[in-house]
Amino acid sequence: MSVRRLAPDHVQPASFAFDAANENWADRQIAKYPTGRQASAVIPLLWKAQEQHHGWLPRAAIEAVAKKLDMAPMRVMEIATFYTMFNLQPVGEHFIQLCGTTPCALRGAEAIRKVCEEVIGPQSTVSADGKLSWLEVECLGACCNAPMAQINFDYYEDLTPENFRALLDDLRHGRPTKPGPQVERSCSEPLGGGETLKDAALYDGTAVGAGDWQARIADQRKAAAEAAAAKAAAEAAVKAAEATPAAVEAKPATKTAAAGRPKPSGAGQPSSASQDTPAANGKVSAAAVKESAKPADATSATAAPAAGEPDAAAKNVTAPALPESKPELLTAARDGKPDDLSLI
Ligand code: FES
Repeated sequence: MSVRRLAPDHVQPASFAFDAANENWADRQIAKYPTGRQASAVIPLLWKAQEQHHGWLPRAAIEAVAKKLDMAPMRVMEIATFYTMFNLQPVGEHFIQLCGTTPCALRGAEAIRKVCEEVIGPQSTVSADGKLSWLEVECLGACCNAPMAQINFDYYEDLTPENFRALLDDLRHGRPTKPGPQVERSCSEPLGGGETLKDAALYDGTAVGAGDWQARIADQRKAAAEAAAAKAAAEAAVKAAEATPAAVEAKPATKTAAAGRPKPSGAGQPSSASQDTPAANGKVSAAAVKESAKPADATSATAAPAAGEPDAAAKNVTAPALPESKPELLTAARDGKPDDLSLI
């Protein structure tokens, strides 16, 4: 965890004010928010103040932003000290943020850090010529090209002590540099170039229609239509079977048959399937047994007897309900061995 403090007094400027262009820009940012909510523009204004003040935020800039937004200076100070995008110490013309998080560390960030110390000096100090300063930061999201560093607004990746030393020299002397990978690869491709999707036919349009895709889609549509027809036929057959008089007569009325049978063992818990079936209660017709195995549906609901009129199943119930019994409990592994889950 980094300690974030304001720079010492001897480097703090006496005052800060936005220049005319930035003042105008700040007013436009504030105008984006509803009246009374101008504090919402605090981060953009701090960012612009940092940009104007050579890449870091002095105390006077923080106070100037607070005044412009009519905020307590401490509130703005809290924001400036919380977000690491705000530099509270002077930085060099080229500010290097070196990633030291695990992927970069595993790929040699420590060696890059040593180059920083040798060429620039200790962390958070500006080189004597004012050109360079550096800071170790956490992951910058370019881990696949580790180790890497952000220099001002650009990423420099695939760093080695040699290419990084040369890069610092170019920056110091104002020579052009190439952001991105510092080795021969494009973006995040594997070293040596891409290995997949290399067939030129993928990009010239000749692969379009290959493999008779129209026939494949026609087959898929035909199969879907056949499946839908089979499903509809099965549903019609079930409805026809339920509508026969025998099925209606033999169907037990769940409500009436419930009298006298054991209660569920817990609130809201149904009694077991064997208790719910008419067969478990004693005498029932074969048709009723067969019918009770079917799930209840709208058709069966209409077959229930009218209120106050016992149904066929209720008339047949003469035996007492089976007593509820507890399942066998295990106190040790069955046969001293774990269960064979493949049997489930
Ligand atoms: S760990 Fe360095 S960029 Fe992610």
